[in-house]
Amino acid sequence: MNTVIIGAQWGDEGKGKIIDILSDKADYIVRYQGGSNAGHTVVVNGKEYIFHLIPSGILRAKKVCCIGNGVTIDPQALIKEISGLREAGIAVDNRLKISYLAHIILPYHKVLDELRETKGVRKIGTTRRGIGPCYADKINRCGIRVVDLLNPASLREKLNDNLKEKNEIFKKVYRHPGFDFNSLYKEYLNYGKIISPYACNTASLLDKAIKNKKDILFEGAQGTFLDIDFGTYPYVTSSSTTSGGSSIGTGVAPLNINNVIGVAKAYTTRVGEGPFPSEFPPVFGKFIREKGSEFGSTTGRPRRCGWFDSVMIKEAVLLNGISELALTKLDILDGLKEIKVAYAYKYKGKTFTEFPCDSMVLKNAKPVYKEFPGWNKSIDKIRCYADLPKNAKAYISALADISGVRISMVSVGSGREDTIFLD
Ligand code: GDP
Ligand code: IMO
Ligand code: MG
Repeated sequence: MNTVIIGAQWGDEGKGKIIDILSDKADYIVRYQGGSNAGHTVVVNGKEYIFHLIPSGILRAKKVCCIGNGVTIDPQALIKEISGLREAGIAVDNRLKISYLAHIILPYHKVLDELRETKGVRKIGTTRRGIGPCYADKINRCGIRVVDLLNPASLREKLNDNLKEKNEIFKKVYRHPGFDFNSLYKEYLNYGKIISPYACNTASLLDKAIKNKKDILFEGAQGTFLDIDFGTYPYVTSSSTTSGGSSIGTGVAPLNINNVIGVAKAYTTRVGEGPFPSEFPPVFGKFIREKGSEFGSTTGRPRRCGWFDSVMIKEAVLLNGISELALTKLDILDGLKEIKVAYAYKYKGKTFTEFPCDSMVLKNAKPVYKEFPGWNKSIDKIRCYADLPKNAKAYISALADISGVRISMVSVGSGREDTIFLD
């Protein structure tokens, strides 16, 4: 059984925790898009691990973890993550496989990301990890890939071509001195040596795994509404975060993907700029941010918070083919008198029950809410659905009804054990 796990909102839904749980029964865990903009948190026996590039399944011994061709790799971030795992006593050798075809993030991508955010015409609120500029080079056919780091002649030619053009842009547009060929060449050739034991043809590796009836878990990063096509463009990331990205980003054919699980918070959060119809007013937003520790796992930025938005979730179900939802952070809603769920938007007298494509509509849309009574009890120690307060069960079942998919897991804390299985 090959399953894709995706974020159904704007990222940080708790994918890391859900992937860690499901990876117990998988053989391969594969990242297929994004890069070190991701921050996936897993808490095991009270110890917190945050993964940016390495799949969250790495904590389970013997599982093979792949970084697919669709991921953008910052070698500095990758090496730091590998060393951190080694220091924690987690062996990655022979278990980490990196696609020859994945694109490499270079310092000029990160600096350009930063300059566009600080001096450009439109601030997106990116993580400044160089993701957008690296994907732009990929599409522009001038990217440098893992395979190029392993071939000195190829790296020399490609880096030289890139710097010729980019240094002119840095100097003329941004008044930045640009980058020195020799030092970058030496540095990245060395990264190639470090990465080389992990590099391989991951598409072929996964094909063999499928033929041997192994189970693959595809670890989505970011979330549906950060998707380059279907998200709240231009306030999105630069990759295909929806389930279809798993095929393009790994070389596993769509017919070999059997199931899609969406991860959604019991409310909504977003980091960075862009429309957010169900966003809380500032004082309540601060209260939930602090209660839910809603600060970015990668950048530490405060996350914006709002009510659960079923217009978005229904769209996420449609775009990803979600068959079941894992609902996270329900414990954060403990003690609220009333909980709201957006089920439509109003704009200029018109009611929208489908997610609008026009960003101007979304920016000015006013959500229409259904209200639910809260529960005045802590649920973080509950492990069985039947033991949840009546109003919590009613909330879960209403979310499943409005979203049109069953909820198979409810998470009530950050630890592995803080999970209720509904099946
Ligand atoms: P991801 O990017 O989707 O993997 O999510 P992040 O790791 O960026 O953010 C989710 C945060 O919520 C992390 O700090 C998790 O440890 C935490 N978390 C996950 N599920 C729950 C839950 O059910 N309850 C609480 N209180 N925290 C959770
Ligand atoms: P995980 O995998 C939440 C957001 C950034 C910004 C936009 C573009 O942990 O859920 P980028 O650096 O990708 O060009 O930034 O996307 N963003 C995320 N938000 N979770 C993430 O990853 C994100 N990765 C990028 O905040 O709004
Ligand atoms: Mg995250």
